[in-house]
Amino acid sequence: MIVFEGIDGSGKSTQIKRISRRLEISGYKVYPTFEPTDGPIGSLIRQMLSGKVATDQRTIASLFAADRTDHLVNKENGIRHKVDKGQIVLCDRYYFSSYAYHAQYIDMKWVIHANSLNADILRPDVTIFIDVDPDICFERIKSNRSNFDMYEKIDIMKKVRANYFKAFDTLKDLEKVVIINGNSSMEKVEDAISKEIKKIFSTGLKT
Ligand code: ADP
Ligand code: TYD
Repeated sequence: MIVFEGIDGSGKSTQIKRISRRLEISGYKVYPTFEPTDGPIGSLIRQMLSGKVATDQRTIASLFAADRTDHLVNKENGIRHKVDKGQIVLCDRYYFSSYAYHAQYIDMKWVIHANSLNADILRPDVTIFIDVDPDICFERIKSNRSNFDMYEKIDIMKKVRANYFKAFDTLKDLEKVVIINGNSSMEKVEDAISKEIKKIFSTGLKT
């Protein structure tokens, strides 16, 4: 499994589409997917994130961990099963998103612990972090999000980015993470990611 991480607007979904196409042309069977999922727990999470359902940060963090477990093991389209069948799973966000986003409100160690079952079920072959300046991300996404405080949003993005780096450092002995400079054109970012994926393939994927 290859995971794509980054702050909002860093280009994860853009790159997953591009890399999927490349891998498919090379003959690989690819399964692109994302978190929060569009399953029952993911839908509840989205309602909470939009403020339609009241909740608190500990509940959200726990639900994300549960959504992830379901994403891994559910009988219909669980990632674990796809990997076992030899498909290349490309996942838009995984547990590092939880570490980076929820550590704004609760102790990161707790979030890592809450996801330890998920890590036991499947540790990615690589986590690709698309690193983009929060100001650039904001410029990219602001057109479709008009009514929030710009400084507040950029400040959150900076905190989340810092938490990602903190999590990478905390887990450096357990996780393979590659940082890609995502500030350049889509083509350049795609080439850089593709090079890293080739390296991972040359050493063999986990089963
Ligand atoms: P994410 O999935 O990380 O939130 P997206 O892939 O949806 O990010 O990209 C957010 C916006 O930025 C989209 O409008 C997309 O077309 C644009 N975008 C993505 N990558 C780049 C890039 N390298 N340069 C300029 N714009 C980009
Ligand atoms: P997403 O649908 O990827 O939003 P976007 O396309 O704007 O990046 O994710 C929704 C939000 O959920 C995003 O702001 C990050 C957050 N999130 C968490 O807080 N914890 C998690 O574990 C995950 C996977 C996402």
